[in-house]
Amino acid sequence: MIHYKTDDQLRSIRKAGRIVAACHREIAARIKPGVTTLEINRFVDAYMRRCGARPAQIGYKGYPFATCASVCDAVCHGFPTATPLMAGQVVTIDMVAELDGWMADSAWTYAVGKVSPEAQRLMKATKQALFRGIAQAVEGKRLGDIGYAVQQIADREGYSVVEEFIGHGIGRRMHEDPQVLHRGKPGTGKWLRKGMVITIEPIFVMGGPLVSIDNDGWTARTIDGSWSAQYEHTVAVMDGEPVILTR
Ligand code: MF3
Ligand code: CO
Repeated sequence: MIHYKTDDQLRSIRKAGRIVAACHREIAARIKPGVTTLEINRFVDAYMRRCGARPAQIGYKGYPFATCASVCDAVCHGFPTATPLMAGQVVTIDMVAELDGWMADSAWTYAVGKVSPEAQRLMKATKQALFRGIAQAVEGKRLGDIGYAVQQIADREGYSVVEEFIGHGIGRRMHEDPQVLHRGKPGTGKWLRKGMVITIEPIFVMGGPLVSIDNDGWTARTIDGSWSAQYEHTVAVMDGEPVILTR
């Protein structure tokens, strides 16, 4: 069942979203060679709590950390570790803040020091796909329009979309209806209506789309070792411009 949010409820999610956005801003300034993802995780955990928010990923289906930190060939749900990041790597940090019972979710891929032109191109295309998807999140369009917009960029740029991981409704719970696929046919799927709040979170990989899960039970990794990027925002569908709640 889709929960349509009132303007008041959108404001509540926006407040949680601002905290997530602030964390990402701080992370962007902190990510460099030698830093560990466990340090980044500790920062996010403390920052959210200082804001009166709860790092909502902790305890979600037993997930033990405030953030997911997925390095290079890890596509998502990576555990933060004490291994220093190295120049040339890419790392995706994903997090959810819950404030006054409302959730906001955003992931971003960061370059560690200087990265290869190939990695830069992957990051740029994935980010572009997110924003093309967001542009479709308006009343009167359909879920397939979002998926199609994302997929178009992957096809054009020669990347695979990891289809196991999809966007979702979000609000009082981290994962609500509807499911938001990162592929689709235009003019198909559920109708978008004002008050829907969804995440759009495409994962692009340089090689094949297949992933396997590490022994930790969480970290998803490409089976061919190719690198990935992911960008995610929590977005409110409106009757005009969509509103990005995690910016
Ligand atoms: N933030 C994730 C999402 O985009 C959920 C991560 S799973 C968790 O849907 F276990 F880490 F919470
Ligand atoms: Co997320």
